Amino acid sequence: MMAKITVSESAGFCFGVNRAVQMVYQALEEGKKVATLGPIIHNTDVVNDMIARGARIIDDVSELEPEEYVVIRSHGVGKDTYDAIEKLGNPVIDATCPFVSRIHKIAAEKTKEGYYILIAGDEDHPEVQGIVGHCDENFFVFKDQFVLDAYFQENPQKKLAIISQTTYNNIIWGECLKVLPEDDPNIVVYDTICTATEQRQTDSAALAKQSDLMIVIGGRHSSNTVKLFDICSHYCRTYHIENADELDTLDLSNAEHIGITAGASTPAHIIKEVVTTMEEILNKDNNLEEDFDFAQALDESFKKLHTGARVKGIVMSVNNSEVIVDLGAKQTGSVPASELTNDPSVKPVDIVKEGDELDLIVIKVSDQDGIATLSKKRVDEQAGVEKVIEAKEAGTVLEAQVSAVVKGGVNVFYEGVRIFIPASQTGLPREASLDGLKGQTVKFIVIEAPERRKSAVGSIKAVNRKEKEAAKAKFWETAEIGKEYVGEVKSLTSYGAFVDLGGIDGMVHISELSWNRIKHPSQVVSVGDTLKVYIKDLDRENDRISLGYKKAEDNPWEKFKSEYQVGDIVDAKIVSITSFGAFAQIIDGVDGLIHISQLADRRVENVKDVVAVGDEVTVKITNIDMDSKRISLSIREAMDEADYEDEADED
Ligand code: F3S
Repeated sequence: MMAKITVSESAGFCFGVNRAVQMVYQALEEGKKVATLGPIIHNTDVVNDMIARGARIIDDVSELEPEEYVVIRSHGVGKDTYDAIEKLGNPVIDATCPFVSRIHKIAAEKTKEGYYILIAGDEDHPEVQGIVGHCDENFFVFKDQFVLDAYFQENPQKKLAIISQTTYNNIIWGECLKVLPEDDPNIVVYDTICTATEQRQTDSAALAKQSDLMIVIGGRHSSNTVKLFDICSHYCRTYHIENADELDTLDLSNAEHIGITAGASTPAHIIKEVVTTMEEILNKDNNLEEDFDFAQALDESFKKLHTGARVKGIVMSVNNSEVIVDLGAKQTGSVPASELTNDPSVKPVDIVKEGDELDLIVIKVSDQDGIATLSKKRVDEQAGVEKVIEAKEAGTVLEAQVSAVVKGGVNVFYEGVRIFIPASQTGLPREASLDGLKGQTVKFIVIEAPERRKSAVGSIKAVNRKEKEAAKAKFWETAEIGKEYVGEVKSLTSYGAFVDLGGIDGMVHISELSWNRIKHPSQVVSVGDTLKVYIKDLDRENDRISLGYKKAEDNPWEKFKSEYQVGDIVDAKIVSITSFGAFAQIIDGVDGLIHISQLADRRVENVKDVVAVGDEVTVKITNIDMDSKRISLSIREAMDEADYEDEADED
């Protein structure tokens, strides 16, 4: 019977390596000049393929050519390297694995807070060298629990932050934790072993336990492959190979159950090739069963997630371009920024943070490594679309912020659904600029539900209209002549001012604006002024409201009546001249007529011979007719009186 062959579910490319490889290929496809800072992965085939496509491998940034893109591989680099690149001015493709970036962040933050950083890992590994480059000299690298124990024996206590290389062996990590003093508040521990590594190690150990023989595929210099080899060797006979060519040299006999695993840098096609070659070798040896399709088994192990499946993911890291999530079932996924939300003005860090649980939908599963590309916005949209449709049917008023001014209107996002508000529905006058709406929270109703290729349409104007109608109804319920309101002047015409009484406008006629004669309302009020008005008249049928503004106590005729009487000698100012006399102002708003016969103590042919507009004159009030608001004045009589007084004085 042919041996049973099982491929470990988490064998091969991890998320971070896959991401870095894709970033290099994409840059090459875009025709960019690319230099990777060290080999992008521990796999000669892939690296040679990249070189064949035009990539260069450099050891140091000093080797960069002008304008060449430098790729920082998934291991990451120290701060000094970033600084050196910035100085050179070369563009960067930062393929640092987000899990490694998280360690850099912890190292830098804790260093700043005065912690000494202890790093579990291999001090010669580029990832550890990169981490060290974020610690500002305050670090110590230990390879296992024994070195860590010795450190504690020799060093006095200080504030310690303990982190590890992402590919650190999780069994040794467990041993290291036992060495730490218990409940010491000065020690903070971060488990930074990557779940991909941990999972691959756990899966490989479990598979090795049930197997008679394990094949570990991966580069000779790949530390995570070497670790897999170590782990599997504990349980059964184990071989480390780089590719299918080496299978011929192995002894595959005496094994009923053969397990296969692969390091993080091993592409899927190499694993497939190993499986197929083994199938051929074993078939040749046993000339038996041909009913087991290993390639299919491998594909299935990579494709546990299906496009369109709804999944939950825990956010592991967030950057400007994507969100990395842990999908639980040995799976890691990426939510590109464009799949997080429809709103381009929102950055990933604004809406998600590490530890958040997200509802997601699978939009793609990589054939190569099973990494899922996910979408949050599509889940939100599905729920949001239902809410928007419900709101449309119920005529519910919704509220959202205007995210962008676009051609012909503005966009708002409600529950992840884009709603277009045409300019004609914004409630702004035609031709008015829409720019002022951006960032404003607006109330709107949905007038067209979203359809497959069409976004929903909203109307602010309809809400304004509704609110206006409600305000009108409320106004008419309580309106009565004499009732006072405080309102804002909305507009002016030559015949009056329109005042907003809270959703409904009333008009103050020009004659009501002042006790004085004015030519235009703008002489007394301006748009935006707040006026205290009262209802003078109501026309319910035509929705017309006449407002009064002048107050009786300000009536200059009342003031005149209380302060002046016939016979008084007063000073007045000539305000106009006619053929029959001159009008003189006694107080603001009250003029009297000096008939031509009363202008002087002689006969006057022409009024202008005696007085001019603006002259100050002394007059006697000779008559007051309050009903017709007429006052008669006389300069002549005032003069007579003065003469009489002079004579009396002389006597
Ligand atoms: Fe990143 Fe983990 Fe791979 S840290 S590079 S996903 S092994």
